[in-house]
Amino acid sequence: MKKVGVAILGLGVVGGGTYKILTEHRDKYIKTHGVDITVESVLELRKDRALALGVEESRIASNISEICSNPEVDIVIEVMGGVEPAKSYVLAALNAGKSVVTSNKELYCKYGYELEQAAKHNHVGLFFEATCVGGVPVIRALLDNLQGNKITSIIGIINGTTNYILTKMTDDGKSYAEVLKEAQSLGYAEADPTSDVEGYDAAYKLSILSSICFNKKIPFADIYREGITNISEDDIAYGKKLGYVIKLLAIGKDAEKGVEVRVHPSFVRATHPLASVSDSYNAVYITGDCVEDVMLYGRGAGALPTGSAIVGDVIYCATHTQHRYSTFPNTEKAASSTKFITNFESAYYLRLLAADRAGELSKVTSVLGRYGISVAKVVQDIDEKNRNGEVNLILVTHSTKESNVKKAVAAIGKDISDTRVVSVIRVLV
Ligand code: HSE
Repeated sequence: MKKVGVAILGLGVVGGGTYKILTEHRDKYIKTHGVDITVESVLELRKDRALALGVEESRIASNISEICSNPEVDIVIEVMGGVEPAKSYVLAALNAGKSVVTSNKELYCKYGYELEQAAKHNHVGLFFEATCVGGVPVIRALLDNLQGNKITSIIGIINGTTNYILTKMTDDGKSYAEVLKEAQSLGYAEADPTSDVEGYDAAYKLSILSSICFNKKIPFADIYREGITNISEDDIAYGKKLGYVIKLLAIGKDAEKGVEVRVHPSFVRATHPLASVSDSYNAVYITGDCVEDVMLYGRGAGALPTGSAIVGDVIYCATHTQHRYSTFPNTEKAASSTKFITNFESAYYLRLLAADRAGELSKVTSVLGRYGISVAKVVQDIDEKNRNGEVNLILVTHSTKESNVKKAVAAIGKDISDTRVVSVIRVLV
């Protein structure tokens, strides 16, 4: 019987879930894989957490060196989050000849290359399925099952907190601030929600996923990022009338002209498969030249779903002797030869508050026409809030360049005295 010892760095939500899976399913892995995986050590400053999970006191390490020098530990699971001290601990483990399984998206996104070099040098493995989309097995699907394809695009709902907030705003007609507060009190959103609501979390994941999809390093810094804090319940309601659902999308595209990577709120047709991904669920919609469209759906976070991804990596690592590393130069330097498209094309939803009088709409369409923007839909809605001669005028454009929209919005503000653009939301085409 092959014996494999693991150490877990951090026994928070995900670390605790991982510990539970490994201990409760230990006999299953012996039967199915012929490998006895035991938790030999944990590193957790809050001893009470470890003891509450049933960890024997003798297995609680007081520092990383104890774990690195423990000959019973073969694999180190890092679930601490953040860059430091996680980075130093992971490097110490790799340099001590331990394979590492990590769920740390920020660390892998920013320092994946450095960690991989250390893994390579020490002939050990570095696994990171849990960095992206929790329990949804997207990384191995891309690395193994879909590797025969040229992947042309990946569109994901890869942040559960924002998907939960946007779903609640849509279903209950409540404001962003109100729903955020509720989500925080229920523990669905962090006390400091910045990383989720401003799109950083999704951008780290998009950097990792699109690098694998397109076989080239996609640095975090090259990802356009916009969060959900300015989305209003009014726009969600108008979007609904037009047959759209609002989502925070992470979009990666690889075309001849260059790579496009962006995270921002977007209206999605209600008939698109991503539109039905609600609450805190996640999904990635991948297009490959052979397979066409594939959508993977599931829980993107949580103790057991993320633990599932981690344990999958642990078993993979425990049952493979040959480790695999990136097949492309995964460095920021290599990325300098990649052309990134920043003036991307999209359809746009524009909401204007306009004077309700003859000729006003034609002034707006004339400005749009000046910048080559063609209108696909127009809706005028006098709602309860705007009966003082102003109307909400909603226009959806055909696909156009982002720069055209920016120029047109500025020109409307300057050239049309009683009309202003209050919202601009991209629409997935
Ligand atoms: N904070 C993330 C989310 C989960 O809301 O999806 C961890 O990646």
